[in-house]
Amino acid sequence: MRLVFVGPPGAGKGTQAKVVCDKWGIAQISTGDMLRAAKTAGKLPADLIAQMAAGALVPDDVVIGLIDERTRAKDCEPGFLLDGFPRTVPQAEALGATLGSRGLKLDHVLALEVPADLLIERAVFRRTDKRTGQIYHLKYSPPPPGADLETRADDREEVVRKRVETYEAMTAELLPYYEGLGILRRIDGVGSVGEVTERVLAALGDPPGSPGSH
Ligand code: AP5
Repeated sequence: MRLVFVGPPGAGKGTQAKVVCDKWGIAQISTGDMLRAAKTAGKLPADLIAQMAAGALVPDDVVIGLIDERTRAKDCEPGFLLDGFPRTVPQAEALGATLGSRGLKLDHVLALEVPADLLIERAVFRRTDKRTGQIYHLKYSPPPPGADLETRADDREEVVRKRVETYEAMTAELLPYYEGLGILRRIDGVGSVGEVTERVLAALGDPPGSPGSH
């Protein structure tokens, strides 16, 4: 299965992506994580670091190149979940073209919908374990004692607000694009992590070979 998660900052894409990928045995690919890993490795140019820190998108050609290469890796053969890509119509068109050239297509695009007032609280109190990458929330999913936590550079409240604005401007075109292709599913992202997981898994149906599949 090949799917895309679209959703505003803090909607829960990374949190839900992990559950789906574990259940379906597919690769989780986050362009945000790839860009942050490149930054940590000292391989992200200073202008891109500044764009991310300001809550803006990096140029389409940068992320299109990353995804084109990453989706060809062996672990993507059973399928993959793209978390945070595509974010613009040119990125969506490039993804369609690269998959099409390999005889592949997307099965689903899931849009996680969460109102702006909840997003700020979710992002500002997010912490990530440096060693495992596990995502926590100081209030809703508290980290265990001894976790080696970090706060993302773009999770300051004013930057989160800017990221939400950027998202709203971008999805004005992206969601209708996928609606037109007939593969968009809208998921209510309000509720506990477990409640949202149930909605996401129900939208996808059962993995092949599982007891509930036909
Ligand atoms: P990226 O890393 O993709 O960030 P994002 O899209 O802004 O999304 P987040 O990672 O902030 O949120 P999430 O939806 O994954 O939420 P999470 O599960 O962590 O992108 C960062 C930057 O990289 C961009 O701004 C841009 O500069 C650049 N970039 C990336 N991709 C790009 C692209 N394609 N094109 C151009 N530029 C690109 O959850 C958030 C918090 O809420 C956590 O603390 C979690 O524990 C908690 N939580 C989750 N679900 C619930 C729930 N149901 N109830 C309560 N709390 C919850």
